[in-house]
Amino acid sequence: MWSRPHLLGIEGLSASEVSHLLDRAEAFYGPMPKTDALRGQVVVNLFFESSTRTRTSFEIAGKKLGADVINVSPSTSSVSKGETLLDTIRNVEAMHADILVLRHASSGAPQFLAKHARSSIVNAGDGTHEHPTQALLDVLTMRKHLGDLNGRIVAICGDIMHSRVARSNAILLGLLGATVRFTGPRTMLPLEAARLGSTVIVAHTLADAIDGADVVMMLRIQNERFSGAALPTTREYAKTFGLNANTLARAKPNALVMHPGPINRGVEITSAVADGPQSVILDQVAAGVAVRMAVLEAVGLTRGNT
Ligand code: CP
Repeated sequence: MWSRPHLLGIEGLSASEVSHLLDRAEAFYGPMPKTDALRGQVVVNLFFESSTRTRTSFEIAGKKLGADVINVSPSTSSVSKGETLLDTIRNVEAMHADILVLRHASSGAPQFLAKHARSSIVNAGDGTHEHPTQALLDVLTMRKHLGDLNGRIVAICGDIMHSRVARSNAILLGLLGATVRFTGPRTMLPLEAARLGSTVIVAHTLADAIDGADVVMMLRIQNERFSGAALPTTREYAKTFGLNANTLARAKPNALVMHPGPINRGVEITSAVADGPQSVILDQVAAGVAVRMAVLEAVGLTRGNT
């Protein structure tokens, strides 16, 4: 079912590998007693970008599996003195780290490290490329509420261009037979959006994207990744691409409202909708622990068997 030493992205995973991770995550969902599946293994969280949900849930997941979990923060590590990523990893590995969970601003950093590392690399978000565990937890949340995703319509709205979440979700949802509709201002829609798969459609208005959708996923504008003035004013953006009760009414009744977080309330989504009855945003966070347990278990057991 799973024999990979790393989880670098959704791209390239088979349907049976995805099923394995989702089924294991389902088994881990909810309050779980500690297990000793990864007892004796050391998990190091290396987050070169800020994180609340991903870093915390990887830490909880590793501890629930009986691993020793260490957090390295670049601002208080020797990275701040100019040490390279590869040297950092080699030093951490010299201390017998087994699994490195990496978040990095450069797209491709985990793939690069996987070529040089002795440890297992888990991608916790690389630049604008992939955020595989986020897509897995999003799909687990959808599956828990909607069942089979084949034929479902998922609207993903906002800053698609800079979103590793949008990219990983488009690939994963395509694999599961769902249709993805991307929308956002033209300056935030990548030219290759429609090439992510035959199931991706680009809509130029929020209304067109949401119309009849089963799921509406809103994204934050990633100001930190813009180099120029590609943005309209925040007010104009909220008026044109923000989700409120009126625009949500175009989706299917009881459509799920999702957001990977962090939310900019009043910009891409109103508080009334983010905290409303259709919101499953905190269910996504809960699913994050289960998915990260499944991923750490999968790569950890592969290491144990080799
Ligand atoms: N969704 C997500 O990646 O959140 P964090 O940046 O808080 O980890």
